[in-house]
Amino acid sequence: MPNNKKFIIDFDSTFTQVEALDILGEISLENHPERDDRLEKIKEVTDLGMEGRLTLRESIEQRISILEANRGQIDELVKALKKKVSKSFDRNQEFFAENAEDIFIISNGFKDFIVPVVTSFGLKEENVFANEFVYDEKGNIIDFNRDNILSQNNGKAATIKKLELTGDIFVIGDGYTDYEIKAAGLANRFYAFTENVDRPSVTAMADHIAPSLDEILYVNKMNKKYSYPKSRINVLLLENVHPVGIEMLQHEGYNVETYSSAMSEDELAEKIQNVSILGIRSKTNVTSKVLENANRLMAIGAFCIGTNQIDLDTCQEKGIAVFNAPFSNTRSVVELAIAEIIFLMRNISDKSRLMHEGKWDKSANGSFEIRGKKLGIIGYGNIGAQLSVLAENLGLDVYYYDVIEKLALSNATKLNSLDELLKVADIVTLHVDGRPENKNLIGEREFDLMKGGAVFLNLSRGHVVDVKALKKAVESGKVRGTAVDVFPQEPKNNEEPFESDLKGLPNTILTPHIGGSTLEAQQNIAQFVPNKIIDYINTGNTFNSVNFPNIQLPFLKDAHRLIHIHQNAPGVLAKINQTLANYEINIVGQYLKTNEKIGYVITDINKKYSNEVIEALKKIEGTIRFRVLY
Ligand SMILES: NC(=O)c1ccc[n+]([C@@H]2O[C@H](COP(=O)([O-])OP(=O)(O)OC[C@H]3O[C@@H](n4cnc5c(N)ncnc54)[C@H](O)[C@@H]3O)[C@@H](O)[C@H]2O)c1
Repeated sequence: MPNNKKFIIDFDSTFTQVEALDILGEISLENHPERDDRLEKIKEVTDLGMEGRLTLRESIEQRISILEANRGQIDELVKALKKKVSKSFDRNQEFFAENAEDIFIISNGFKDFIVPVVTSFGLKEENVFANEFVYDEKGNIIDFNRDNILSQNNGKAATIKKLELTGDIFVIGDGYTDYEIKAAGLANRFYAFTENVDRPSVTAMADHIAPSLDEILYVNKMNKKYSYPKSRINVLLLENVHPVGIEMLQHEGYNVETYSSAMSEDELAEKIQNVSILGIRSKTNVTSKVLENANRLMAIGAFCIGTNQIDLDTCQEKGIAVFNAPFSNTRSVVELAIAEIIFLMRNISDKSRLMHEGKWDKSANGSFEIRGKKLGIIGYGNIGAQLSVLAENLGLDVYYYDVIEKLALSNATKLNSLDELLKVADIVTLHVDGRPENKNLIGEREFDLMKGGAVFLNLSRGHVVDVKALKKAVESGKVRGTAVDVFPQEPKNNEEPFESDLKGLPNTILTPHIGGSTLEAQQNIAQFVPNKIIDYINTGNTFNSVNFPNIQLPFLKDAHRLIHIHQNAPGVLAKINQTLANYEINIVGQYLKTNEKIGYVITDINKKYSNEVIEALKKIEGTIRFRVLY
């Protein structure tokens, strides 16, 4: 079917990211003593022109005289402009090549540099309408062609009128003169292009505000690559996500909506329908009821460590990848552990309490330096290993035990059993994960094995320690002091009272699960999670996803990437490959990982694909979700 759409596109700040005369100034005035003043002046004159305080002719005249440029510098300018083509134009080169007949470039700039830039995209020289420089015999730019109607106010509309175009006529531009074409009744739609500059006076007149060319192609069903415009990716962030995270997602071009509080199940079930990425913290429950409505949802970011609040199984069944921030607060936990080790060795919590009660108890009894003491770390993961390094720097002698083989950092000593560690350590600190088998890992038997007067810390998970046994050990003096940050039963909010057998024990520091609660950790989380999500959307990388098979992908070069998520049943990969073979498409790379429920296949192909092959891939039995990246 012949295409009856015509596109009229502006050049400066639309086709390219920049105003060409600004760049010409940077070249021609490079070594000029008044360089900075003159560059500033060029911008000023451009603005005065745009505001209508100078006529177009006055503004061109003034800029030409400030620039003192010559023909040789135009070549340099063209090179620079080719590197500054708007990103969305650059990634949609096929659109220009395939629709060259129907694309017109119209500009108050100059053909001298516009033609070489746009023809390199396959556009036609005869479809470029712009001003022309006049040179003297030495090649200096001294004037412009004053007969060209584009050197006059409203020249764009007058030029288009002469062309007598038929069909649907769309104007794409960032300036008021672009809107004037539509205002003169010469175009059907005006797209205010905001990828490079956003002028409220122009967007106010727009039929559609387009943050990228992808958006325009998408709404006109012309985006060949199936690439989904980022501005159509709706992000919903709940529970006061740190501004750093909001900015990162906005910067990526997504459409971000934020709420300071959590949402109830019903509210979220309603709201989720239009959402592509959901960001939550610990108070929003993403239940199966919510997920039933989540048909556009691609990923969930848990801006926290835990993911119990999310129905991970249903997410998997629907092909929704979940990411969290498991390491972002490691350092915060380690710092608290260090502080507590010192406090326990000096009985600071009791001494401080007594002072508040008006009691002065100055004595060195039962107070020790930590230097040279043996620190026993149970669980040498992210936290345990970092604690090992910091503690050693403070002069502690570090021992550790882990159920899996872990390389000793620095001078730490690896031990082969928990019992061995308990017997050797002056200070025992727990940093294991919360797997069910670790319930009551430390109980009466383990306290008995410890040295008399040992110090004990739990900043890992509440159920890992038998609290009654710990109480007994503290009361008997077997454990000289303890610091506990996590409890088998914790209050759900700050209003609920805290109940524990450990209340009131001597030399016992109790903290309300704040090991990882620092502003720095919040900021780290706010950066980590969006990074993961953006990477997943842009490359398909699922490394560190909580519920997806983890694939870490190589960078993609000169290929298209197809992402296929399917139920884990035999033969799906073979069907994908057969479908590609049927269309004679060659695979340049393929990555597959499965878990019990789903399979995740990334296929890189080096050939242009057709709509039919995409539809055929989507129809493969068991397909949960399919998307094309580039
Ligand atoms: N208090 C807080 O605010 C806070 C903050 C962050 C993390 N945490 C908790 O700290 C703990 C450690 O976190 P991480 O990021 O280092 O986890 P991690 O998964 O990196 O490390 C846990 C390590 O413990 C080991 N392990 C598990 N069971 C063991 C056992 N029975 N004996 C010996 N080793 C065992 C694992 O092999 C692993 O190396 C987790 O339980 C986490 O929930 C608490």
